Amino acid sequence: MTLTPADENALSLTMRTLAPCAQPSDMLNQVFHQDLFALLPHLPASFVDLLILDPPYNLAKEFNGRTFQKQPVENYTRWMESWFLPLARVLKPTASIYVYGDWLRSASIFHVLQERFTIRNRITWEREKGRGAKTNWKNCSEDIWFATVSDDYFFNPEAVMLKRRVLAPYRVEGQPKDWQSEEGGNFRLTHPSNFWSDITVPFWSMPENTDHPTQKPEKLVAKLVLSSSQPGGVVMDPFLGSGTTAVVAQKLGRKFVGVEIDRTYCLLALKRLAAAKTDKTIQGYADGVFWERNTLAEQLRANGTKSGKPATQDPAQSLLLNVA
Ligand SMILES: C[S@@+](CC[C@H](N)C(=O)[O-])C[C@H]1O[C@@H](n2cnc3c(N)ncnc32)[C@H](O)[C@@H]1O
Repeated sequence: MTLTPADENALSLTMRTLAPCAQPSDMLNQVFHQDLFALLPHLPASFVDLLILDPPYNLAKEFNGRTFQKQPVENYTRWMESWFLPLARVLKPTASIYVYGDWLRSASIFHVLQERFTIRNRITWEREKGRGAKTNWKNCSEDIWFATVSDDYFFNPEAVMLKRRVLAPYRVEGQPKDWQSEEGGNFRLTHPSNFWSDITVPFWSMPENTDHPTQKPEKLVAKLVLSSSQPGGVVMDPFLGSGTTAVVAQKLGRKFVGVEIDRTYCLLALKRLAAAKTDKTIQGYADGVFWERNTLAEQLRANGTKSGKPATQDPAQSLLLNVA
């Protein structure tokens, strides 16, 4: 997805900046084009159910002309503390938090989270993209740290079951043991674990793909939103980038709050949000379950069987749908 000059003109009218003394109702379903540090003093308290954090990684990286440099772990930890602790005010006592990071940033994330929250888990997901290295192992995984404000929190594993192909179908007295035979093969629904090997990083032919250098897959964010928020709940992402969290929250019937310092990324997020009003599909999530990679045909069949029509109105998009 790219921006045309007409998009820029139309969408810039819907971009917001937060005024002092804001109420939660001023924030819901808005994309704020602002520096998080400028916004922090004005944020209302206790209104967010799920906080998803994807700050710039501790890597040299350029975001549309704004460069972030690799820093010593202690400096990155201090930088995280400088915004994370004031931001925590927005969380309800029942809220959950997810923080993305690579192996190096995980050291800082653990340190900052354990100061104020209860760390529940660390998810690792397989990130297929990535360059090989001559003097080190290729980086092919990332972490997502899961924490909660208190012991009273919402978690729904049933909403994030994984549908896997059964390679050695075992029968007891002639009957399938915990799997079903379907038109496209034999499948089992498995409980979600903290290792995700079913994620595909957005690539050029996927409708969700933008020019953002570190865009997260919608499928990945959908797992966080479905497991840790309820319909109508408030999901906040203060480093919104191309808008993935907001788009997924909207598609899944949650409210969102997004903050992003870069104007182009804000506009991309708004364009994706406009498209998501009519196309609520999430690649790799069909018929209420998450699917392994390379099960496109089965997912289309499952969606078509349920609704009696293809998963999207656009046949070209249907073909691309759910490759993740
Ligand atoms: C790792 S990316 C987030 C990508 C996002 N999850 C997505 O799927 O597109 C981090 C984003 O934070 C933004 N950013 C960096 N510093 C910021 C600040 N002080 N306030 C708000 N946004 C900031 C960057 O412009 C970048 O788009």
